[in-house]
Amino acid sequence: MLDRYWESTAGSAGARAPRPWTTSTARLRSLNGRWRFRLSPTPAGTGPGFERDGYDDAAWDLIRVPAHWVLEDITVPWADEPRVSAPRLDGTGPLYTNTAFPFPIDPPRVPTENPTGDYRLEFELPADEVADRREGATVLRFQGVDSCAAVWLNGVELGWFTGSRLPVEFAVGHLLRAGRNVLAVRVHRWSAGSYLEDQDMWWLPGLFRDVELIERPVDAVDDFNIVADYDHTTGVGRLRVDADRPGMVEIPELGVRAATGETIAVPEVDPWSAERPRLYRGTLTAGGERIDLVVGFRTVTIDGGRLLVNGSPILFRGVNRHEHDEHRGRSLDRETMVRDIELMKRANINAVRTSHYPPHPEFLRLCDEYGLWVVEECDLETHGFIYAAWEGNPPAEPVWRDALHDRIRRMVQRDKNSPSVVVWSMANESWTGDTFRELRQWIRDADPGRPVLYERDPSYADSDFHSLMYPSLEDLERIGRREEPTPEGVEPGSTDDVRRRGLPFLLVEYAHAMGNGPGSLVDYQRILEAHERFCGGFVWEWIDHGFAARDAAGRPFTAHGGDIAFRPNGGRYCLDGVLFSDRTPSPAYFELAAAIAPVALEPDAASGTVRIVNKHDFADLSALVFGWRLDVDGLPIAEGPIDVPAVGPRSGVQIVLDDVPPVEAADGEVWLTVTAALADATDWAPRGHEVAVGQARWETVGSAPASAGPAARSEEVGDPVRPEPVFDPLTGALGSLFGVGIAGPTVDVWRAPTENDRGQGSSNTMAADGKAVGLDRFTHRTDARATVGPTTVVRGRSGPATQTLAVLWEQTWTVGDARIDLTADFAFTGRWSDTPHGHYDVTPPRLGLRLALPGGYDRVEWFGRGPGESYVDSMAAARIGRFAASIDSFQVPYPVPEENGNHVETRWLRILGPGLPTLRIAATDPEISLFDFTARRWTSEALENARHPHDLSDSGSVWLNLDVRQQGLGSSSCGPALPERYRVPSEPATLRLTFTAER
Ligand code: GAL
Repeated sequence: MLDRYWESTAGSAGARAPRPWTTSTARLRSLNGRWRFRLSPTPAGTGPGFERDGYDDAAWDLIRVPAHWVLEDITVPWADEPRVSAPRLDGTGPLYTNTAFPFPIDPPRVPTENPTGDYRLEFELPADEVADRREGATVLRFQGVDSCAAVWLNGVELGWFTGSRLPVEFAVGHLLRAGRNVLAVRVHRWSAGSYLEDQDMWWLPGLFRDVELIERPVDAVDDFNIVADYDHTTGVGRLRVDADRPGMVEIPELGVRAATGETIAVPEVDPWSAERPRLYRGTLTAGGERIDLVVGFRTVTIDGGRLLVNGSPILFRGVNRHEHDEHRGRSLDRETMVRDIELMKRANINAVRTSHYPPHPEFLRLCDEYGLWVVEECDLETHGFIYAAWEGNPPAEPVWRDALHDRIRRMVQRDKNSPSVVVWSMANESWTGDTFRELRQWIRDADPGRPVLYERDPSYADSDFHSLMYPSLEDLERIGRREEPTPEGVEPGSTDDVRRRGLPFLLVEYAHAMGNGPGSLVDYQRILEAHERFCGGFVWEWIDHGFAARDAAGRPFTAHGGDIAFRPNGGRYCLDGVLFSDRTPSPAYFELAAAIAPVALEPDAASGTVRIVNKHDFADLSALVFGWRLDVDGLPIAEGPIDVPAVGPRSGVQIVLDDVPPVEAADGEVWLTVTAALADATDWAPRGHEVAVGQARWETVGSAPASAGPAARSEEVGDPVRPEPVFDPLTGALGSLFGVGIAGPTVDVWRAPTENDRGQGSSNTMAADGKAVGLDRFTHRTDARATVGPTTVVRGRSGPATQTLAVLWEQTWTVGDARIDLTADFAFTGRWSDTPHGHYDVTPPRLGLRLALPGGYDRVEWFGRGPGESYVDSMAAARIGRFAASIDSFQVPYPVPEENGNHVETRWLRILGPGLPTLRIAATDPEISLFDFTARRWTSEALENARHPHDLSDSGSVWLNLDVRQQGLGSSSCGPALPERYRVPSEPATLRLTFTAER
């Protein structure tokens, strides 16, 4: 073995040439299971000799394979408590960094402190399973080992390799024995390969994907290539299977029986697309083996600056997917992969970027079957060289050439026959280097049928796409018009500049879903659909990468980088998915589903019609059924089906809704909801699964909108309670209303900062800007209180110490028999802009009132947007209706506590609790203004200060915020500033509310 092979830039030694992943008649024996394992602190491992046949490993741990050893219960001999349960948070377990290398930058050297796991497996082979003992026959395959391994079989050295998320095979036929065999693998946590694997994710060593023995005939096909083009002008498919051995190709369904290398024209073939994943199954028989062929006919081209498949432009409604499981890290079982795909398809997602490495091959097989476009990315990111000003960056250093070629070859060879893969992405965030040119050329020669993406090189000379991460809406618009500013370092008007402008644009990452957010998904989608240059985008990202952990008291929580005692550490940056770490969808998941819905439903009361736009690229609407429902004040009064013709892709139809009855005058607020749902069950969702919803006000002829009053009829109204407000003589605050102890209302301008409010570093950090001027520490002063007849006016000023900025407020209470009306006026005073702390305009994250109610209240019903949370820039998934929820279920358990559970456009809400009068708060005139509300058992301050959800405890009160407005969510944790229109303007505002109560 090469001395210090783990620090070699050669990539690997001793492995077979990479070949396509496939299933076949060759017997596959899984070597997954319980292996012997011993962890050592340095690359020396347990020392020489552990690979020997007779080595005594009886005292070693047992570990499951596949798994990451840092996520298993094992012995760490040098730790304080050697026998550990996973995940260990003390720095000997999983480590998380975003851009930083967790070791000194001195390529290709890595520290001597390099945890090394020695693995041993003894397995028996019956005599008939080792029939062919020639060298080329049986292969030993590792689907994924992080980060570097050396391998011995029956004491004989096979070689070593790096490339954690790429397969490696060794020829072992000549080494296998009937009876007992011993496989020994030494795995190093750090290696030269680690310099190429600096993706924003956990560092998770081990044999984490399958280990397999495949008994192949010695002259079996190694390399085969399926060409399955589709000519959309004639409907003819062209099939050719090339192989490195002559063989016979058969696709019974198409009547195909041909030799390898022969081109066959198949008339009237059904093409493959993500929308209609039509596959034809067949075989390639050669060298005594029958290989399964899975053929999808499709042609990917770039023409006229657009990405086309089968002649049609396509739009990726995509997500970036890391492989993650909250217990098992990147060691995913098939069930989890299927779950991901079902969840994606149900959320209208049609594309996946495999950020930032080839996934388990089974995932791609499932994408072929279920239908998802795949942008497959190679296992290559050298981001940490940014801290060396990119000096020594591997793509620019010839010494790394072989390792980079090896990685690209292993990806393309493994997956080139997968119809779902339509774009190869060479790397993520690895800056520039000449090797990219070679890699691009190699791919073009090996696989001319797929375009190549590389986002980071501003010249885009080696990319078939222009691409960026996290542009603002304005920048995206400009890109759509091909009017983007020339990237830095590129000469305006140069060949690169002109060429880039002609390329299609692929939005490789956008909408950073960290914590509560992202906002603007609808805005981005509107732009992506508006310009033909766009082939869509990929939200960052699919799933939070947090680990299921327990604190000292045994309470479960989601661990992130900041919970690990190791520096550097990327903190909470690993929690930025539309699924929580346990795969529960977060509100962002539903918002995304609504924003990217492939059907737009636009009812229009004036014409009594609905416009239905089919945004699919290939499918007509025949798989969907449509219906309408008429609600008055959120209660359904009539519904019916809508007959929709099989409208073709990228076109629309206007349908007259004859059956919708006119609504009686003054019945209340009338809404028409139109839905599109699956007509039949699919392999990813049941029949009736809702694909799209559209809503519009539907006050038809003769009807008039009603005030909040009449709607109360349908709210099980009890006996009205008299308001009997009690005001504190000094502060003017309420002490009691309707006989219920109430504290407040006080002016509130702060919310527990969301991850997006905090921004990234020092940029776009609205939370830090607001704190700098004390928005989080307002004190309140009452200046006047006067009661005249039924009216009490309280006036005051709320603002922070050290500042002049403040809100001047006036609350006018008018008491009636069974109601009390509040007009709350807010005016901004002092320096809100150009403050001494910086030359910016500070806008508050919210503007409104906060009340404390008795803790016995436990439920809320409301008429407004729901059922999930909503914000001004994230409300596509929240429809107008009537909803009910317990206060506890209202809270969205973001793993890092932050503002959540807001509801915009509220007409009224009722707060209920056993033995307490039901309190009803309504917009006094909903036609003029609505309000936002949140309700929780703890204050915003407690929410802000909690590190984990379990730090939050019942304060004994219910804290109710009634806001003129909360600012939007944005996605500034990695992305542009929150657009102006989603902020709370520092302008005078009024909240008009009517309080009633009943028993
Ligand atoms: C991108 C990167 C991703 C992730 C994201 C922020 O720059 O490609 O891997 O780090 O930012 O979460």
